Amino acid sequence: MKVLVVGRGGREHAICKKLAESPLVKGLYCAPGNAGISQDAELVAIDEMDFDGLTSFALKQGIDLTVVGPENPLSEGIVDHFQEQGLKVYGPNKAAAILEGSKSFSKMMMEKYQIPTARYQAFESYEDAKAYIEEQGAPIVLKADGLAAGKGVTVAMTMEEALSSLEDMMLDKKFGEASSKVVVEEFLEGEEYSLMAFVNGENVYPMEAAQDHKRAFDGDEGPNTGGMGAYSPIPHISQEVIDQSVREILQPIAKGMCEEGRPFTGIIFAGLMLTKAGPKTIEFNARFGDPETQVVLPRLKTDLAQVLLDVLKGEDPQLEWKDESILGVVLAAKGYPETYEKGHAINGLDQAEQTSVLHAGTYLNEEQILCANGGRVLLINGKGDSIQEAQAAAYDQMKAVDTEHFFYRKDIGSRAIARAFSSNA
Ligand code: AMP
Ligand code: GLY
Repeated sequence: MKVLVVGRGGREHAICKKLAESPLVKGLYCAPGNAGISQDAELVAIDEMDFDGLTSFALKQGIDLTVVGPENPLSEGIVDHFQEQGLKVYGPNKAAAILEGSKSFSKMMMEKYQIPTARYQAFESYEDAKAYIEEQGAPIVLKADGLAAGKGVTVAMTMEEALSSLEDMMLDKKFGEASSKVVVEEFLEGEEYSLMAFVNGENVYPMEAAQDHKRAFDGDEGPNTGGMGAYSPIPHISQEVIDQSVREILQPIAKGMCEEGRPFTGIIFAGLMLTKAGPKTIEFNARFGDPETQVVLPRLKTDLAQVLLDVLKGEDPQLEWKDESILGVVLAAKGYPETYEKGHAINGLDQAEQTSVLHAGTYLNEEQILCANGGRVLLINGKGDSIQEAQAAAYDQMKAVDTEHFFYRKDIGSRAIARAFSSNA
């Protein structure tokens, strides 16, 4: 089988690596990919949003299955485009991808299908939003309605922060059209975790859970990012809580999408908070998470290509997982998620085990030197029998990387480790 992966980040690198292991996959292509992905798949220089270019390539090459990574092409209907050409593709169509593309749609769904989430209201008027925020008080959470690369959320601990973020979004149009509508919601307190599932209509096949680290700096300080590191499994989230999350959140949303006439095929990603009142939904995404995928997929024992084919056929893929811990640390450009420079060489990476390096924003310059061209540059995975071992293995490799132009968090997984010690004591 020939498989095409669409995207260029760490998530797509993890998907390509897993597909490259499959005996079913005879040809693996990635459009447009990055320098790391070129080790596992043949790069195709077509942009994710060039749907005609991608379908022509797929038809010409005889691609048997296409897997779409990022949210933008999904939201714009890449899946519909492939299907119109009779091409098999794994991902939600445009009607279903709205689950991620509009926060107000996804909040409406949670309300309608009684899926636990934070109380909220959506606003298109700055004055109304301001009045509501003043009435509710801080802490409070503001979200740009549309896609904003994981950065359109402000968790405001003070009223001042809330109002200044509202101004940025609604008056100064910080996220363009994506923030002309704003969702304001209740602040949830608890332990955050991410749960992804392979979905086809009402059928939901959950993966192992992972924990992301969204803030830029150690101790969960600084602005929200696309994710600075992750690990899986999460020792302090019990199987019972995971099962409850599948039952009360993932299954009802999949069923709800069918009832709305928007049946979902692809990956549903639930960003969840374990509150005192049980699991609550923070967000849904219509795709594999980044960086969660980089630590979850390497743990999958089952052949990923076979899994995707089974799910598309409506069959149970019988997922099996390795009993190991994986922890990934993201190397980012200094300044990310605000302004940062591109083009700096990434030195010291040769000491890392290449199979555990997942590239995000990298390219080879004319002298074949690996350089950065994104905010999140790459992720290094460590493996072990516990999160602690995996953490040590990841940082051991990261420490050889020259950080003149880059930075990484030093505390990925530390909360899990601290908890393990306090509960053993
Ligand atoms: P989102 O893009 O919706 O996942 O939000 C980004 C991050 O903001 C989440 O991962 C949470 O850490 C935080 N967040 C979002 N919504 C809430 C909420 N209602 N209460 C507390 N934290 C939140
Ligand atoms: N890690 C969260 C996301 O992929 O949106």
